[in-house]
Amino acid sequence: VPAGHPLPDDARYFAVAASGEVERRSIFRSRLLGRDLILWRADSGGLNAWEDRCPHRGVRLALGANMGTELRCQYHGIRFSSGDGRCTAVPSQPAQVLPSSLRPKIFACADHSGFAWVTLAATSPMPPLRVESGLTLRSMVFAAPTPDVRQAICAYRFGSESAASPEKPHSVKFQLLDPYHVTVSAHTGEHLTSITFLIQPVDQETTIVHGRLDEEVRQADRVKILRDHNDRMSIMREVVERTAPKAS
Ligand code: FES
Repeated sequence: VPAGHPLPDDARYFAVAASGEVERRSIFRSRLLGRDLILWRADSGGLNAWEDRCPHRGVRLALGANMGTELRCQYHGIRFSSGDGRCTAVPSQPAQVLPSSLRPKIFACADHSGFAWVTLAATSPMPPLRVESGLTLRSMVFAAPTPDVRQAICAYRFGSESAASPEKPHSVKFQLLDPYHVTVSAHTGEHLTSITFLIQPVDQETTIVHGRLDEEVRQADRVKILRDHNDRMSIMREVVERTAPKAS
Protein backbone atom coordinates (compact mmCIF):
# COMPACT_ATOMS: atom_id res chain seq x y z
CA VAL A 1 0.00 0.00 0.00
CA PRO A 2 1.59 3.32 -0.99
CA ALA A 3 2.32 5.66 1.88
CA GLY A 4 -0.57 7.98 2.66
CA HIS A 5 -3.20 5.63 1.24
CA PRO A 6 -5.64 4.08 3.65
CA LEU A 7 -5.15 0.41 4.21
CA PRO A 8 -7.87 -1.67 2.55
CA ASP A 9 -10.01 -3.34 5.19
CA ASP A 10 -9.16 -6.85 4.10
CA ALA A 11 -5.47 -6.16 4.76
CA ARG A 12 -6.04 -4.54 8.12
CA TYR A 13 -5.83 -6.20 11.51
CA PHE A 14 -8.86 -5.96 13.78
CA ALA A 15 -9.17 -6.82 17.44
CA VAL A 16 -11.95 -9.41 17.67
CA ALA A 17 -11.64 -10.52 21.31
CA ALA A 18 -9.63 -10.04 24.43
CA SER A 19 -6.89 -12.69 24.26
CA GLY A 20 -8.18 -14.29 27.45
CA GLU A 21 -11.57 -14.93 25.87
CA VAL A 22 -10.01 -17.35 23.40
CA GLU A 23 -9.49 -20.18 25.83
CA ARG A 24 -7.78 -23.48 25.35
CA ARG A 25 -9.99 -26.44 24.42
CA SER A 26 -12.81 -24.21 23.25
CA ILE A 27 -13.84 -22.44 20.07
CA PHE A 28 -14.59 -18.73 19.93
CA ARG A 29 -16.96 -17.61 17.21
CA SER A 30 -16.78 -14.21 15.64
CA ARG A 31 -17.59 -12.33 12.49
CA LEU A 32 -15.54 -9.75 10.65
CA LEU A 33 -16.52 -7.77 7.55
CA GLY A 34 -19.29 -10.23 6.84
CA ARG A 35 -17.12 -13.34 7.23
CA ASP A 36 -17.87 -15.91 9.89
CA LEU A 37 -14.74 -16.89 11.76
CA ILE A 38 -13.62 -19.17 14.50
CA LEU A 39 -10.71 -18.50 16.77
CA TRP A 40 -9.19 -21.34 18.67
CA ARG A 41 -6.10 -21.74 20.74
CA ALA A 42 -3.87 -24.80 20.70
CA ASP A 43 -2.61 -26.15 24.01
CA SER A 44 0.76 -24.57 23.14
CA GLY A 45 -0.97 -21.17 23.22
CA GLY A 46 -0.85 -20.73 19.43
CA LEU A 47 -3.81 -18.78 18.08
CA ASN A 48 -5.74 -19.86 14.98
CA ALA A 49 -8.30 -17.87 13.00
CA TRP A 50 -10.16 -19.86 10.38
CA GLU A 51 -13.23 -19.41 8.29
CA ASP A 52 -16.15 -21.03 10.08
CA ARG A 53 -16.66 -23.56 7.35
CA CYS A 54 -15.36 -27.06 7.02
CA PRO A 55 -13.56 -27.53 3.69
CA HIS A 56 -15.14 -30.99 3.43
CA ARG A 57 -18.88 -30.33 3.23
CA GLY A 58 -19.18 -26.80 4.51
CA VAL A 59 -20.44 -27.53 8.03
CA ARG A 60 -19.66 -24.88 10.63
CA LEU A 61 -16.36 -25.66 12.30
CA ALA A 62 -17.62 -23.86 15.41
CA LEU A 63 -19.72 -26.98 16.06
CA GLY A 64 -16.57 -29.09 16.23
CA ALA A 65 -14.12 -29.73 19.03
CA ASN A 66 -10.79 -28.19 19.96
CA MET A 67 -8.61 -31.23 20.65
CA GLY A 68 -5.59 -29.23 21.77
CA THR A 69 -3.43 -29.55 18.67
CA GLU A 70 -6.16 -30.15 16.11
CA LEU A 71 -9.70 -29.09 15.47
CA ARG A 72 -12.18 -31.88 14.76
CA CYS A 73 -15.16 -31.21 12.55
CA GLN A 74 -18.33 -32.43 14.16
CA TYR A 75 -19.87 -33.89 11.02
CA HIS A 76 -17.49 -36.53 9.66
CA GLY A 77 -14.79 -36.11 12.28
CA ILE A 78 -12.04 -34.92 9.95
CA ARG A 79 -9.24 -33.26 11.91
CA PHE A 80 -7.23 -30.20 10.96
CA SER A 81 -3.95 -29.19 12.52
CA SER A 82 -3.31 -26.00 14.45
CA GLY A 83 -1.14 -23.60 12.47
CA ASP A 84 -1.31 -24.69 8.85
CA GLY A 85 -4.79 -26.31 8.94
CA ARG A 86 -3.45 -29.46 7.31
CA CYS A 87 -5.76 -32.46 7.41
CA THR A 88 -4.44 -34.99 9.92
CA ALA A 89 -7.14 -37.66 10.01
CA VAL A 90 -10.14 -38.81 7.99
CA PRO A 91 -11.88 -41.29 10.32
CA SER A 92 -14.07 -42.83 7.61
CA GLN A 93 -11.02 -43.66 5.48
CA PRO A 94 -8.10 -44.33 7.83
CA ALA A 95 -6.06 -46.05 5.12
CA GLN A 96 -6.42 -43.27 2.58
CA VAL A 97 -3.65 -40.79 1.82
CA LEU A 98 -4.62 -37.57 3.54
CA PRO A 99 -5.85 -35.00 1.05
CA SER A 100 -3.46 -32.06 1.28
CA SER A 101 -5.91 -29.75 -0.48
CA LEU A 102 -8.47 -30.21 2.29
CA ARG A 103 -7.72 -27.25 4.54
CA PRO A 104 -9.89 -24.64 6.12
CA LYS A 105 -9.45 -21.08 4.98
CA ILE A 106 -6.86 -19.58 7.30
CA PHE A 107 -6.56 -15.93 8.25
CA ALA A 108 -3.47 -14.34 9.74
CA CYS A 109 -3.91 -13.62 13.44
CA ALA A 110 -1.89 -12.67 16.48
CA ASP A 111 -2.16 -11.99 20.19
CA HIS A 112 -1.04 -8.43 20.77
CA SER A 113 -1.53 -6.03 23.68
CA GLY A 114 -3.92 -8.49 25.29
CA PHE A 115 -6.26 -8.73 22.29
CA ALA A 116 -6.66 -11.34 19.58
CA TRP A 117 -6.24 -9.64 16.19
CA VAL A 118 -7.30 -11.01 12.83
CA THR A 119 -6.90 -9.86 9.26
CA LEU A 120 -8.83 -11.33 6.37
CA ALA A 121 -5.54 -11.66 4.53
CA ALA A 122 -3.82 -15.05 4.58
CA THR A 123 -0.58 -13.38 5.59
CA SER A 124 0.02 -9.82 6.58
CA PRO A 125 2.62 -8.23 8.84
CA MET A 126 1.17 -7.10 12.12
CA PRO A 127 1.35 -3.30 12.29
CA PRO A 128 3.08 -1.76 15.29
CA LEU A 129 -0.16 -1.21 17.14
CA ARG A 130 0.11 -0.41 20.77
CA VAL A 131 -2.74 -0.52 23.20
CA GLU A 132 -1.68 0.55 26.67
CA SER A 133 -2.04 -2.09 29.32
CA GLY A 134 -4.68 -1.53 31.93
CA LEU A 135 -8.29 -2.51 32.43
CA THR A 136 -10.02 -4.23 29.52
CA LEU A 137 -13.64 -3.13 29.26
CA ARG A 138 -16.46 -5.47 28.47
CA SER A 139 -16.92 -5.72 24.70
CA MET A 140 -20.27 -4.55 23.40
CA VAL A 141 -22.27 -5.48 20.32
CA PHE A 142 -24.09 -2.66 18.54
CA ALA A 143 -26.87 -3.34 16.04
CA ALA A 144 -25.63 -0.41 13.96
CA PRO A 145 -23.23 0.23 11.09
CA THR A 146 -19.63 0.98 11.95
CA PRO A 147 -19.58 4.67 10.83
CA ASP A 148 -22.47 5.47 13.21
CA VAL A 149 -20.76 3.69 16.09
CA ARG A 150 -17.46 5.40 15.35
CA GLN A 151 -19.14 8.79 15.44
CA ALA A 152 -20.73 8.01 18.80
CA ILE A 153 -17.45 6.84 20.26
CA CYS A 154 -15.75 10.07 19.30
CA ALA A 155 -18.29 11.80 21.54
CA TYR A 156 -17.87 9.37 24.44
CA ARG A 157 -17.62 11.16 27.77
CA PHE A 158 -16.41 9.90 31.10
CA GLY A 159 -14.44 10.97 34.13
CA SER A 160 -14.89 13.83 36.52
CA GLU A 161 -15.88 16.18 33.73
CA SER A 162 -18.56 14.01 32.25
CA ALA A 163 -21.14 16.31 33.86
CA ALA A 164 -19.87 19.35 31.96
CA SER A 165 -21.73 22.60 32.03
CA PRO A 166 -21.31 25.85 30.06
CA GLU A 167 -19.24 27.20 32.94
CA LYS A 168 -17.11 24.11 33.02
CA PRO A 169 -16.83 22.74 29.51
CA HIS A 170 -15.35 19.40 28.64
CA SER A 171 -11.69 19.05 28.15
CA VAL A 172 -12.20 15.56 26.87
CA LYS A 173 -10.08 14.81 23.87
CA PHE A 174 -10.43 12.20 21.27
CA GLN A 175 -8.00 11.02 18.70
CA LEU A 176 -8.96 9.02 15.67
CA LEU A 177 -5.85 6.92 15.19
CA ASP A 178 -7.31 5.17 12.18
CA PRO A 179 -10.93 4.43 11.19
CA TYR A 180 -11.16 1.57 13.70
CA HIS A 181 -9.07 2.84 16.54
CA VAL A 182 -10.18 5.77 18.72
CA THR A 183 -8.63 7.09 21.91
CA VAL A 184 -10.71 9.21 24.26
CA SER A 185 -9.02 10.96 27.19
CA ALA A 186 -10.54 12.67 30.19
CA HIS A 187 -9.60 13.70 33.69
CA THR A 188 -10.56 11.18 36.31
CA GLY A 189 -9.81 12.81 39.62
CA GLU A 190 -6.15 13.78 39.61
CA HIS A 191 -5.00 12.36 36.35
CA LEU A 192 -5.74 12.08 32.69
CA THR A 193 -7.10 8.69 31.73
CA SER A 194 -7.43 7.39 28.21
CA ILE A 195 -9.58 4.69 26.77
CA THR A 196 -8.67 3.09 23.50
CA PHE A 197 -11.67 1.77 21.63
CA LEU A 198 -11.08 -0.90 19.04
CA ILE A 199 -13.89 -1.13 16.53
CA GLN A 200 -14.73 -4.45 14.92
CA PRO A 201 -16.85 -4.07 11.79
CA VAL A 202 -18.90 -7.27 11.96
CA ASP A 203 -21.02 -6.63 8.89
CA GLN A 204 -23.15 -3.85 7.38
CA GLU A 205 -25.51 -3.71 10.35
CA THR A 206 -23.42 -4.82 13.29
CA THR A 207 -20.36 -3.50 15.09
CA ILE A 208 -18.52 -4.71 18.16
CA VAL A 209 -16.57 -2.31 20.34
CA HIS A 210 -13.67 -3.45 22.51
CA GLY A 211 -12.05 -1.07 24.95
CA ARG A 212 -9.08 -0.68 27.23
CA LEU A 213 -8.52 1.85 29.97
CA ASP A 214 -4.87 2.88 30.15
CA GLU A 215 -4.44 2.48 33.85
CA GLU A 216 -4.29 -0.34 36.30
CA VAL A 217 -7.11 0.08 38.78
CA ARG A 218 -7.27 -1.16 42.30
CA GLN A 219 -9.05 -4.45 42.64
CA ALA A 220 -11.60 -2.75 44.90
CA ASP A 221 -12.49 -0.25 42.14
CA ARG A 222 -12.56 -2.66 39.23
CA VAL A 223 -16.18 -3.68 39.28
CA LYS A 224 -17.39 -0.12 39.80
CA ILE A 225 -15.30 1.23 36.92
CA LEU A 226 -16.27 -1.59 34.59
CA ARG A 227 -19.92 -1.07 35.45
CA ASP A 228 -19.66 2.67 34.94
CA HIS A 229 -18.27 2.26 31.42
CA ASN A 230 -20.68 -0.51 30.66
CA ASP A 231 -23.56 1.79 31.62
CA ARG A 232 -22.19 4.67 29.53
CA MET A 233 -21.65 2.41 26.57
CA SER A 234 -25.14 0.95 26.94
CA ILE A 235 -26.65 4.43 26.81
CA MET A 236 -24.52 5.24 23.78
CA ARG A 237 -25.70 2.02 22.18
CA GLU A 238 -29.35 2.82 22.78
CA VAL A 239 -28.96 6.18 21.07
CA VAL A 240 -26.98 4.80 18.15
CA GLU A 241 -29.32 1.89 17.59
CA ARG A 242 -32.37 4.14 17.72
CA THR A 243 -30.98 6.41 15.04
CA ALA A 244 -29.11 3.88 12.91
CA PRO A 245 -30.65 3.07 9.54
CA LYS A 246 -32.37 -0.27 9.73
CA ALA A 247 -31.53 -3.01 7.30
CA SER A 248 -34.40 -3.59 4.92
S1 FES B 1 -18.22 -31.61 6.81
FE1 FES B 1 -16.54 -31.48 8.12
S2 FES B 1 -15.75 -33.44 8.13
FE2 FES B 1 -17.31 -33.54 6.70
